Amino acid sequence: MTSPQTQTSEATHINDGVILRVEDLTKEFLVQRRGIKRKAQYLQAVAGISFEVRSGETLSLVGESGCGKSTTARAVLRLIEPTSGKVIFRMQGDESNGATLVDIAQASTAELRLVRRHAQIVFQDPIASLNPRMTVEAIISEPLVAHRIGNRKERAERVRELLDLVGMKSSHAQRHPRSFSGGQRQRIGIARALALHPSLIILDEPVSALDVSVQAQVLNLLDDLQNKLGLSYLFIAHDLAVVRHVSTDVAVMYLGKIVEKAERNELFKSPVHPYTHALMSAVPIPDPVIEAGRRRIILESEIPSAVNPPSGCRFRTRCPIAQVPGPCSEEEPELREYSPGHMLACHFPQPDGMIGLTSKS
Ligand SMILES: Nc1ncnc2c1ncn2[C@@H]1O[C@H](COP(=O)(O)OP(=O)(O)OP(=O)(O)O)[C@@H](O)[C@H]1O
Ligand code: SF4
Ligand SMILES: [Mg+2]
Repeated sequence: MTSPQTQTSEATHINDGVILRVEDLTKEFLVQRRGIKRKAQYLQAVAGISFEVRSGETLSLVGESGCGKSTTARAVLRLIEPTSGKVIFRMQGDESNGATLVDIAQASTAELRLVRRHAQIVFQDPIASLNPRMTVEAIISEPLVAHRIGNRKERAERVRELLDLVGMKSSHAQRHPRSFSGGQRQRIGIARALALHPSLIILDEPVSALDVSVQAQVLNLLDDLQNKLGLSYLFIAHDLAVVRHVSTDVAVMYLGKIVEKAERNELFKSPVHPYTHALMSAVPIPDPVIEAGRRRIILESEIPSAVNPPSGCRFRTRCPIAQVPGPCSEEEPELREYSPGHMLACHFPQPDGMIGLTSKS
């Protein structure tokens, strides 16, 4: 195998088999200036997160609304400028040249243009992300036109191929988005994302706007496409139930930080962080007897503002077992290896469930 060339000078090493390595990524938004001195106030939407996506696999990023998932997705692809951190991406070359490592956070305009051929994003809302005035053919061939690929006939042929790939008919090409259901519109969005043969797709809540039955169909489609095309996914969702069947690894995010990360089965079988326990308690279990014996952990208060996050552990204002005053308010728990491959940021891990709050099966 050809060893990867480094395109941007700042790019660092990533292990074989890893397609995306995010290192200590932060994104701050300037939100307001107050007072006579008009001191700047910043909202830290993403507060130093690191993760890897391995080739052909799926890392899911899960957390409540506002925890920074979409900001992460956009910063990774530089649709917004990251404040700091590295985003090392392995771009697959053609037969004549091997893979290239690019730090997307530092990439030049020309490098970014190349990156955008290899890494795509699918958004949550298929209605908002498809131009209602364009035909399906124009929508799907947009990236081909932007990258000057093929002539009109070749692009029309590729659109037919892509429609077939996502389970739609070639006769759909001349229709407009409004004549399709939510699930079909999301299929069109996926077809557009596939047009340039990407290796990485970021899926930002791709099924959250869809009915449960349609969700399963789109998730199955994504799974099939991954197997067929060897795609790597960064999959974003706000609840664990959605990611259960699509993930290789799962990272749980809270207020801009990753608090727990593990291989999918390990996380579902042995969650340790109090926040993961709370998210897990909302995942329905198909067995009615087990389900009847479970208790949902309701997190009482609102998510605090990311402008002034709590001292110590960011989850402490909602954590049912927080020791405050004490370590939870005084020291920020670092994300450390709790057991092989299982990362955790908590001073008081809960391997046996949340005593008194959940009944474990
Ligand atoms: N352009 C912006 N300017 C200021 N604040 C922003 C901006 N974009 C996002 N934020 C804030 O950053 C934080 C993270 O937002 P983000 O959209 O990444 O969350 P999310 O996890 O994707 O939420 P959801 O599940 O609702 O999509 C929120 O507090 C949000 O209000
Ligand atoms: S560090 Fe403390 S507050 Fe934070 S999750 Fe663990 S127990 Fe709860
Ligand atoms: Mg979002």
